Amino acid sequence: MKKNIAVLPGDGIGPEIIAQAVAVLDAVAERYGHEFNYEYAQIGACAIDACGDPYPQETHEICMRADAILFGSIGDPKYDNDPAAKVRPEQGLLRMRKSLGLYANIRPVKPYDSLLDASPLKNERVAGSDFIVVRELTGGIYFGEPRGRDASGNTAFDNCVYSREEIERVAHVAFQYALRRRGKVTLVDKANVLETSRLWRETVKRIHQSDYPGVSLDFMFVDNAAMKMVSNPKDFDVILTENMFGDILSDVSGVINGSIGLIPSASFGKERSLFEPIHGSYPQAAGRDIANPIATILSAAMMLEDAFGLSEEAQAVKDACAKAISDGVCTEDIIPGSRYGTKATGQYIVDIIKA
Ligand code: IPM
Ligand code: MN
Repeated sequence: MKKNIAVLPGDGIGPEIIAQAVAVLDAVAERYGHEFNYEYAQIGACAIDACGDPYPQETHEICMRADAILFGSIGDPKYDNDPAAKVRPEQGLLRMRKSLGLYANIRPVKPYDSLLDASPLKNERVAGSDFIVVRELTGGIYFGEPRGRDASGNTAFDNCVYSREEIERVAHVAFQYALRRRGKVTLVDKANVLETSRLWRETVKRIHQSDYPGVSLDFMFVDNAAMKMVSNPKDFDVILTENMFGDILSDVSGVINGSIGLIPSASFGKERSLFEPIHGSYPQAAGRDIANPIATILSAAMMLEDAFGLSEEAQAVKDACAKAISDGVCTEDIIPGSRYGTKATGQYIVDIIKA
């Protein structure tokens, strides 16, 4: 199989973790006789430095002509500490999601048995957890208008907006996953307070009744869901939620897994699919060869499976990651004092795939 992949390393640890994911894709290509061609493009702070735009037109064109997109991370402390900055790296990521129409973001959580002690939660609570967060990615408070400041500059507003159609399309994605999993969807919202959440409930209930009566559907307020996620993570199968709640809850889910450095994601939409780790650019670790490459390598596995239909290859990558972890070969976020860095961990996984 021949595929063109747009590769967007981004900022911070992005280039280091992406290098390992590309090495893994090359190992898969060699072992299974595929040809993957990579076209690199800039996004985030590095793109602002290069051309003043966090999502340059050229990057968009490279994404549009690729079969799938592999993305690292964006963000830079020089912008975090400057709330007045007019152009921000995050705008690049948000514009990319919006212009590629990436409305459904899937974040799978399934702790490794050999890593249960890496979670600060009790083993018996975490063991056997297996759920996905389906996060709506192109709507809500991240994008709603109006947003900004009033004339005085002393009042700020971000509007949360959802249309029925935006809810429907991501709800279908969640129900379809549930059909292939344990058949349960939990809609997480704040319907006791927010009108958008009430529209979510109404819309999701309607789709459930008409199209997926065999799936079980329940509802949970987001504050309660955050508590349940750490106290009873096994209760969840598919969590369907809006953009901001999904962002927050998926970081919480990193605690269940032992490290946020292990959670990949896939984003699907109208134009293309994109694969990225859920963690950020971790600037304190940039250039130090300590960042965990596994979330990005597992994102590449999701690409193989979901974008290219290469299930056997994806499984080989997932098995190689699991073996590296159970062999104690991974970075210090999950193996305290580990002598294995980003490169050595990636290389170990490459060698398993090629063996
Ligand atoms: C994520 C990140 C982004 C988000 C940031 C970097 C804009 O936290 O992908 O979860 O909030 O969506
Ligand atoms: Mn986030």
